[in-house]
Amino acid sequence: MTIHIGAQPGDIAETVLMPGDPRRAKWAAETFLTDPVCVNELRGMLGYTGTWKGHRVTIHGSGMGMPSLSIYANELLRDYGVRTLIRIGSTGAMQPHVNLRDLVVAMTCSSISTPSSSIFRELNFAPCADYGLLRAAVDAAAAKGVPTHVGGIYSSDTFYDERPDLNEQMTRHGILSVEMEAAELYALAARHGARALAVLTVSDHLLTGAALDGKDRETSFADMVEIALHAAFP
Ligand code: ADE
Repeated sequence: MTIHIGAQPGDIAETVLMPGDPRRAKWAAETFLTDPVCVNELRGMLGYTGTWKGHRVTIHGSGMGMPSLSIYANELLRDYGVRTLIRIGSTGAMQPHVNLRDLVVAMTCSSISTPSSSIFRELNFAPCADYGLLRAAVDAAAAKGVPTHVGGIYSSDTFYDERPDLNEQMTRHGILSVEMEAAELYALAARHGARALAVLTVSDHLLTGAALDGKDRETSFADMVEIALHAAFP
């Protein structure tokens, strides 16, 4: 047991899928895993371990934003021996050719700061996905026929941002979309010699203001969970 995770040693699989929303962790585990068991519910941050096609896997919430994700990812990597972390979440499109419901697979993550920034000081560390996971996710998305974009994303510290100029620069530099967790996930995985990937579905569009309704969010979330599972166990 750690400060934020109530699981016993061995309760958590080496491979963890991390949605931001803990209720989505419960839904995904109950929908896709065989014999899911709740391994954490401290502070309502739910985690479940079960099997998928015979492979042991945990689905655990990260909460919103990099400080929250950093707490859970640190404890999973340091104290539970997790070796593969795949974020599954939503993202806001920043390019005209990226549409609602499309999949974004994050090759790199730009940010203003992350919880890890303090150790890099003047260095602009470039958080980067695990290539094997990324390639497997792209293959799985193609097999499912889900339109997919692979490239750089922006991991922001704010949802309600006051810097439209910064978003414009992201769009100008080809950044596909914005979310709030992946840069720190990639930095932590790098530090611990583990593998990480963020597989995201486009829930809203910053250029048009369009957003998915609840039903579409659910369908695209289900596709994303399956793609992440195939990426973890190709
Ligand atoms: N996640 C999904 N949409 C987002 C947005 N517009 N900004 C930040 N994070 C997001």
